[in-house]
Amino acid sequence: MDGDSTRSVHEAEPIDEKTGSVTVPIYQSSTFGFKKASEVVRAVRGQGKSYVYSRWSNPTVAILEAKLASFEDAEDSAFFASGMAAISTAFLAFVEEGSHVLAIRDLYGESYRLIHEFLPLFGVKSTLVETESLTQMKKGLRKNTKVVYVESPTNPTLKLVDIRRAAKLAHSVNAMLLVDNTFASPINQKPLQLGADITLHSATKYLNGHADVIAGVAAGSAKAIGRVKHVRRILGGTLDPHAAWLILRGMKTMSLRVRAQNQSAQRLAEFLSKNKRVMRVNYPGLRTHPQHGLAGRQMKGFGGMLSFEINGTKRQAMRLTESLRTATLAGSLGGVETLVAQPATLSHAQMSPEDRLRTGISDSLIRVSVGIEDVEDLIRDFEQGLSKI
Ligand SMILES: Cc1ncc(COP(=O)(O)O)c(C=O)c1O
Repeated sequence: MDGDSTRSVHEAEPIDEKTGSVTVPIYQSSTFGFKKASEVVRAVRGQGKSYVYSRWSNPTVAILEAKLASFEDAEDSAFFASGMAAISTAFLAFVEEGSHVLAIRDLYGESYRLIHEFLPLFGVKSTLVETESLTQMKKGLRKNTKVVYVESPTNPTLKLVDIRRAAKLAHSVNAMLLVDNTFASPINQKPLQLGADITLHSATKYLNGHADVIAGVAAGSAKAIGRVKHVRRILGGTLDPHAAWLILRGMKTMSLRVRAQNQSAQRLAEFLSKNKRVMRVNYPGLRTHPQHGLAGRQMKGFGGMLSFEINGTKRQAMRLTESLRTATLAGSLGGVETLVAQPATLSHAQMSPEDRLRTGISDSLIRVSVGIEDVEDLIRDFEQGLSKI
């Protein structure tokens, strides 16, 4: 099989036979015409022609789905209008009234709310366990556990879940393991190879890579994704073809971008860990990370995300985020531009201070999504910012 950079450029994107176009056309069509009424009958049954209506499927979106499936070593994938549409549709595809969900404590906020506030409305109960504890995960499983849900690395403290062992535990009660792979990207981590059943992304982040699209994806076996597509058709969170085309363009440089981001994040993490105004750096590529060994075993690269705690107050952390010149103060991640955020005032502002502290999110924690700028410029920027707090 071709390497990641070759696949980034060519996978699932043949030169257009009719026109020779080297890029995939945008099939900006809501519906597809038929010459014969009998063809309609066959297409609606899933036979013959593939395209009927773009909420069901669309040629540009289908090419993107084939491309992403190849990166995740999946049989198929389903794209959505946001990461949360992918995650919520996947949950609704695999749980039913009376099911139990087991999830880690360090979840992306909206995923936590989906499990904690929304699924109970449909009679689905959940248990949250400490992220790194497989012992708690084992204890939390029940006979009716249908989904085990994890993120690795986690947001914003970069904790890891041992995906291989989590998959074995989930399968011991016939549950499925769903992994949010957004922080790692498929270049750095392939959960399906480690035994997971479904891998999910906010495609808004590394897949697209240019901070100009909101999208999501679920990938897995043809059977599992068939079920997800069935539920997507009902709930309607399908991706628009124009956004699909932008992601196809973004994915051509995914391997280059992510490898550059891995290298720069490592250099920045090492610089920060030596700065006396920094108390702690969370980055799986540092030997000081408590799960550095696991990171080496299950990740091909350590990623472009890191967080660090300054030796100072919430105000000083806010001042640092304002005083950076190359990095921008903004939510989101995974794009070509370096972004910083203070989780206590942005992504995790709605969490109680006690819960924040329990998951290691102090007021002086800063999250960094490392972009593709020259790393010397980034280091200089953080150096001048830290000198002002
Ligand atoms: C880890 C993770 N999962 C899921 C999401 C949700 O994705 P979206 O914003 O594309 O709906 C995000 C968004 O920040 C995220 O960081």
